[in-house]
Amino acid sequence: MALKVLAWSLLYPTFGYTMPSVGTQKCCNAVHQGRVGDVLRPGAEYAAANIRWSVTAMLHPSCIIQPVDTAGVAHTVRILSAAACPFAVKSGGHTPTPGANDINNGITIDFRYINETTLSSDRRSVTLGVGSTWLQAYTQLNDTGVAFPGGRYGLVRVGGLTLGGGLSFFSPKVGWVADNVLNFEVVLASGEVVNASSTNHSHLFRALKGGSSNFGIVTRVKIQTFESTGRLWGGSVAYPCNDNTTEHAKTSQRTITMTKMRR
Ligand SMILES: *[C@@H]1O[C@H](CO)[C@@H](O)[C@H](O)[C@H]1NC(C)=O
Ligand SMILES: *[C@@H]1O[C@H](CO)[C@@H](O)[C@H](O)[C@H]1NC(C)=O
Ligand SMILES: *[C@@H]1O[C@H](CO)[C@@H](O)[C@H](O)[C@H]1NC(C)=O
Ligand SMILES: *[C@@H]1O[C@H](CO)[C@@H](O)[C@H](O)[C@H]1NC(C)=O
Ligand SMILES: *[C@@H]1O[C@H](CO)[C@@H](O)[C@H](O)[C@H]1NC(C)=O
Repeated sequence: MALKVLAWSLLYPTFGYTMPSVGTQKCCNAVHQGRVGDVLRPGAEYAAANIRWSVTAMLHPSCIIQPVDTAGVAHTVRILSAAACPFAVKSGGHTPTPGANDINNGITIDFRYINETTLSSDRRSVTLGVGSTWLQAYTQLNDTGVAFPGGRYGLVRVGGLTLGGGLSFFSPKVGWVADNVLNFEVVLASGEVVNASSTNHSHLFRALKGGSSNFGIVTRVKIQTFESTGRLWGGSVAYPCNDNTTEHAKTSQRTITMTKMRR
């Protein structure tokens, strides 16, 4: 047993690590020359940027690229598409599935610097960069009198949660986070940037509400806001598991709603 473990660790000095191939080094050089953002190679900064919520998702890209705006992402995509470079995208990296937000022997695009929070002048919507944490976004809008549905854990970032559907503490009131998106700014595989909304690229708009990273790279999302006193009623409700569970749930949902209205 001990021998087997030793042999294993000699073969794989770091679990899952494989030497970067020449092909992806060329891709890293190309994005570096394209000057689209910082390009991190293995080292201290790279290690810090490659941390994931779960170690199961931590892989070893040849380099990490950190664009600062949508144009930078579009330019990166054009370079990577032209050279057929394998890549992964990461906003918060909270998904534990290996390959969901990192890659071995490829390029990881890290959105941490695409982090704006902008409330529209009519206060009906907020535009968020996919690399912002929910905590950053909430802090920016604190005391504005409006709120919006977002993640329940402050360190998760905007992109992955929104595109995966997204449960919010406000979901009983307004639904999933994705239900409240009014517009996605998307970089297509061609490098073209489009807005997908109910009127423009509406099929893409629909597909992205749960589509995760499958249909393009989303860089900014516009989410509708609602007036809020800043108070949130919380708690949990437990139902006995029997034939009447559904009825119980309906009854208490009505009770909760009526209680809320009386307050
Ligand atoms: C947000 O992005 C800007 C660059 O676009 C960067 O200077 C800043 O440090 C980022 N903020 C955080 C909290 O990461
Ligand atoms: C919002 O403001 C309140 C009171 O001013 C403060 O207690 C709270 O921590 C703030 N929340 C965030 C996310 O900044
Ligand atoms: C997307 O919409 C925003 C806000 O309306 C606008 O500033 C931007 O130019 C649009 N982008 C494209 C590619 O149409
Ligand atoms: C929607 O598409 C039309 C026509 O393609 C374009 O003129 C308009 O600027 C787009 N709107 C947004 C918000 O991108
Ligand atoms: C289910 O509801 C019916 C009608 O209200 C009631 O007679 C029955 O006792 C309930 N059963 C359980 C297990 O609570």
